[in-house]
Order: sequence, then structure tokens, then C-alpha cells
Amino acid sequence: MSQDPAKTIHTLLEEKRSFPPPPEFTAQANASDPGIYDLAERDFEAWWAGWAEKLDWDRKWDRVLEWDPPRAKWFLGGRLNASVQCLDRHVAAGRGDRVAFHFEGEPGDTRTLTYADMLAGVCRVANGLKALGIGKGDRVTLYMPMVPELAMTVLACARIGAIFSVVFAGFSAVSLRDRIQDQGARLVVTADGCWRRGKVLDLKAVVDEALRGCDTVEKVLVWRRGEGVTTAGPGGPKDVEWSELVDPQPAECPPESMDAEDVLFILYTSGTTGKPKGIYHTHGGYLTGTYATSNLVFDLKPDRDVFWCTADIGWITGHSYIVFGPMANGVTQVMYEGAPNHPAPDRFWELVEKYRVSVFYTAPTAIRAFMKWGDEHPARHDLSSLRLLGTVGEPINPEAWVWYHERIGGGRCPIVDTWWQTETGMIMITPLPGITATVPGSATRPFPGVQARLFDDRGREVEGAGGGYLVLTRPWPAMLRGIWGDEARYEATYWSRFDGAYFPGDGAKRDAEGNYWILGRVDDVMNVSGHRLSTMEIESALVDHHAVAEAAVIGVHHELKGQAPVGFVILRSGFEPTPELNEEIRNHVAELIGGLARPEKVIFTPELPKTRSGKIMRRLLRDVAEGKALGDTTTLADPGVLAGLKAEYETKEG
Ligand code: WTA
Repeated sequence: MSQDPAKTIHTLLEEKRSFPPPPEFTAQANASDPGIYDLAERDFEAWWAGWAEKLDWDRKWDRVLEWDPPRAKWFLGGRLNASVQCLDRHVAAGRGDRVAFHFEGEPGDTRTLTYADMLAGVCRVANGLKALGIGKGDRVTLYMPMVPELAMTVLACARIGAIFSVVFAGFSAVSLRDRIQDQGARLVVTADGCWRRGKVLDLKAVVDEALRGCDTVEKVLVWRRGEGVTTAGPGGPKDVEWSELVDPQPAECPPESMDAEDVLFILYTSGTTGKPKGIYHTHGGYLTGTYATSNLVFDLKPDRDVFWCTADIGWITGHSYIVFGPMANGVTQVMYEGAPNHPAPDRFWELVEKYRVSVFYTAPTAIRAFMKWGDEHPARHDLSSLRLLGTVGEPINPEAWVWYHERIGGGRCPIVDTWWQTETGMIMITPLPGITATVPGSATRPFPGVQARLFDDRGREVEGAGGGYLVLTRPWPAMLRGIWGDEARYEATYWSRFDGAYFPGDGAKRDAEGNYWILGRVDDVMNVSGHRLSTMEIESALVDHHAVAEAAVIGVHHELKGQAPVGFVILRSGFEPTPELNEEIRNHVAELIGGLARPEKVIFTPELPKTRSGKIMRRLLRDVAEGKALGDTTTLADPGVLAGLKAEYETKEG
């Protein structure tokens, strides 16, 4: 073990720049032969077909891939059901007694659910949904806490072919309403409440508010969190009690046989405009991609691993690496409802010790928070069960990487830094822990079968070491199939910047060893604590406030969150720039979008830097906010604006 508390992370970072896979890890790894990359490269369709063959199909596909850029179809003619892969086939193979979830509520209540329990639960929910008239192709919106019933409802929808859409329970009523309306949901599933930092959040009240103006919604199914949650709960004319509808249902429900290309779910993510995009994924390809990556990247050994992905199922990470990928592999998982520092900053490490977690997957923003809270918290717990660590969501700074490696992984666990997106559905650039020499801060190489390239701004390929726009130049099974209700936007957003290549919106560099370093978004999207937020969306929320005439938003560097939104606001005449109004405007954004979008700061300004054609120069605002020397200002209509802004910003700092 190389753990040496006396050494600072900084000296460790200086000492070692590359971490070859530990030989004892390689010896037992699901992927240990570097030849796997060439194998996948020689015939990528055969490579993916090989993974698809490990799933149970009702009918085998006729063709692996139809690629009519930018539209791909995978496993054409094949039929299967995603819930069967995650449940029935494990139970049928005699593994029904294996624990699917060790659930831990924030107050400390626990539940253990086996794969057989999950299958029975999923069937009951599926029968309940059918009793409400929900069937194939209907949309169901889920606004639920991190509890096993959320995973069950997701899989129940998959089982009957209903299209589910999970909305993260931190989103506001307005955001929830927009999503319900966009997808035309017939049913909303929610809970009377959940626990967060010792408080009860009333999810049902948010749903009630969101439903004003949602004509398509016929029913609201309400699950009760139980003890201590005393919110109003169900009671309205559309409300249905979970315990009355679901609990009495039979524990069997025949799965709908789905076409590989039928839609499995819609998940909204922020883009460069004010309107979130409903990304949709399909049954066959998505399942194949998440199954394969879970198996190789997390090296899952279903008979002995305990996997813990700390994401919420409301984000793509929870869809792919709590529900579908790990469950299709049949592994045991930990699911935790609440905050990482409740009741104390060692809650996560207490859970790792208690459940003997062996593979742990979290976000850099969380790692930076743990670093700040102090080494004593993990040090107090036995973390020797851990054998592999992962990160996702944003670039990880090398200091945080090394801290994670030493203080959590005891110097012995490989770290997989996984780059991917809501749209890619599955991990795309990542180490394979038994093969890849990892480098702190780099996501290393494309997953076998995935083809990434760097382009310059004229679409010419950058060869060898260098920097540019990251692009994906070959279809992959879990790729998004489109944007719900807006097919033109699919092409315009992802496929128009470069001819024939998918543009994810990230910049990257590649070193001489061929490792990719993701540099972050190059569009008007920021990454706050690993969550995507659109500058336009926050700007729209700011100008929605009656006192705001004009607004510009930028993402500034933030020690813990990675980036944080800062708003520059011009007030309407008659409004005074008071601290109270400032607070009110920031809260308005949280009310419209959700707490995660609340600007870190709002700066009142009489003017914004604009080009002569009236375009706001956000780059200059960023320079002001980050205290950098001002870049080229020659295109500004009124260069004097910046001096005023700088002075205003600096007084706010002080
Ligand atoms: C960023 C989350 C650097 C990136 C799975 C991407 C990352 C966006 C990494 C997608 C990583 C994700 N290193 N940046 N390992 N992983 N990102 O859709 O900017 O919520 O485009 O999916 O997060 O965010 P999304």
C-alpha cells in the first residue's frame, strides 16, 4: 500500500504521473488483453454484436447496423425487453436470492431487496400501471426520491413498453411542468416526500403545482416514504395511493416484446438554447452499450462485487449505471437516499464499510468536497473492501484524482475517469482498469469499438498530439436516436458543426501517448457540480423577473462545484440595486429551474459589453469575473462599459 498520510497530495502528484494497472488487478480483470482494442477495431459491428449476444432476445436481429448518417439503427428486427435482462434472466438462472439493492434511507432505515424481490415489485407496479390504462408507447413522468421504488417504476415502464422520463427531484415545478408537457405524459409517479439533510422535501406539492396546465396527465400515483414524512400526500381527484393500487397486484406480469429500436426512455438535458432537449434512447442498443461498459469498465463480478454509483437516477449516470448496466450484469448494489454529509461528513465511508462496497463511482465535485471536509473522515473507516474507483461528470483535477487514489483507494485501486454524456448513453472514453496505465486528469482512451477524433475549427483532423474539438466519427449502439418532438434540432445540434461527425460540445487535447484530456464545454453550456446547465436557460429565468431588463450569464471557476453561474443584470428603470432585490432575483432562478441553477452571484450593471451588432461578449464577462487581463476589446461597441463592470465586480468580491 502506498498510503502515506505524511506525504502531501502535492508531493505524490510530483512523484508519479502515470499509474500502470496493478498486476493483481489485471490477473482477475474482465479485460486484461490489450488486443481487445484491435479486435473491436477490426470489425466494430461484430464486436457489438458479440455483446448483444450475451443478452436474452425474443427474436434475434437480422442486421447489426443500418447507418444512414446521422441516423443509426442497431440490431434491426431484433426483439427483447429491457426489464427481462435486468431481472427475469437472473431469477431464471437461480440467482433470485442475490441482493439487488442494499437500500439505506437518510434517517438510517434500511431495506434489502433481492433480484426476486425486485422482479416481484416490478411486476406489481407494471400491473398497477396497466390497471390505470397505461400501455406501450404511453409516456410516464417520474418525480421520485432515490428509493428502490424509483428503479422498480423505471423497470415496470420498460416491462410494459411505456416510455418513462425521470425528472430529477431537485427540479422546480416549472421545469417539471415543461417536461411533462413536452412529452405529453399520461401519468406522473411521485412520492409524498423524501429526506434531504434531515429535512422532508414535499415532492407531491411540487407535482401539484406543476400539474396546473398539464391537460394530458390523467393520474398521479403516489408512493409513501413512511415514518416521519407527514406531508399532505395523495388526496386530489387524480391521485392514486400506491399501497392501494400496486401492493395488491399479482407478482407476475408478462413482458412486452419490444423492437430493438422502440423508445425506452426520454431524458431532458440542457442545451445551448433556453429549452431543454428530450434525449431519447431505445431498448436494444442502449442495453447492449450499458451492459458491455458496466462489465468492462467497472470489471463487475456479480457473485462478489458490491457496486455503488452515488448518482441520482434522475440523471443519465443513474439510468445507465444504477438501473440498466449493473442490473443487466446482475450485480449487488448500494442505494442511498440522502446527502453525503448527513448526519456527518463520513456518511459515505460508513456505508462503504458497512456494505463492503468494492466498486465505487462518484463525481469530482463530491471528491473535492470530501477533500475539503478532511482526511480524518475516510481514515476513520475500513475501506479495504474497495478494489476499483470511478469518476464521471466533469474533468477531475489531478490533485483530487491523487487524493481519491490515496485516501479512498488506499493507493491500490485503479481509477476509471469516464467521459460520456446523456446523449451517448454509455461511457465512451475511459481506462479499462486491467489494461490502461492511468494518468491523473485524463480519461485516457476511447472504449473498444468507439472512434474519437480531434478536429480544428475548420473540420480538419488534428493528428497525433494536439488540441481541438472532440468528435465521434462512428455510430455506437447506445447513441441517442433523436430529440423528442424536435427532429430537426437533433441534426442541427450534433451533426451540423462537422460533416458526418457527432459533436458533443467538448474541447479536448491528446498527448503523445494518445491519452485524451477533456477540457470542458466549448458552447454555452456550463458544468455545475457535474450537472449541465444552459446559460440561455438561466438568462431566460433572470429576465423573467419583473425587475430585470437584460441579463447575461457565464460559468466561472468554482473550487468545489467546478463551475458556478454568475449573472450580470441590467435593472429596469425604477428599481434600486439593493441586496434584497439581488437575493430575490437569485431565488427566482432557483424557483424557475431548481436550486442547482441559483446564480452564485448577481452583479447589477448599467450596461453589458456588446459587439456593434448587439451580441453580448460573454468571454469578456468571464475575464472580468476571473480577474484576468482583458482580452481583445476592439470589437466592443463601448469599451468604457468594461471598466465600470470590473469596478462593480471587485467591490462585490470585497
Ligand atoms: C462533461 C454525464 C470531463 C462533459 C455522464 C460532457 C466530463 C458533459 C466527463 C455531459 C469526464 C462528463 N471528464 N468531462 N470524465 N464526464 N463530462 O449529459 O462536458 O450530464 O459533455 O452526462 O459532462 O454531461 P451529462
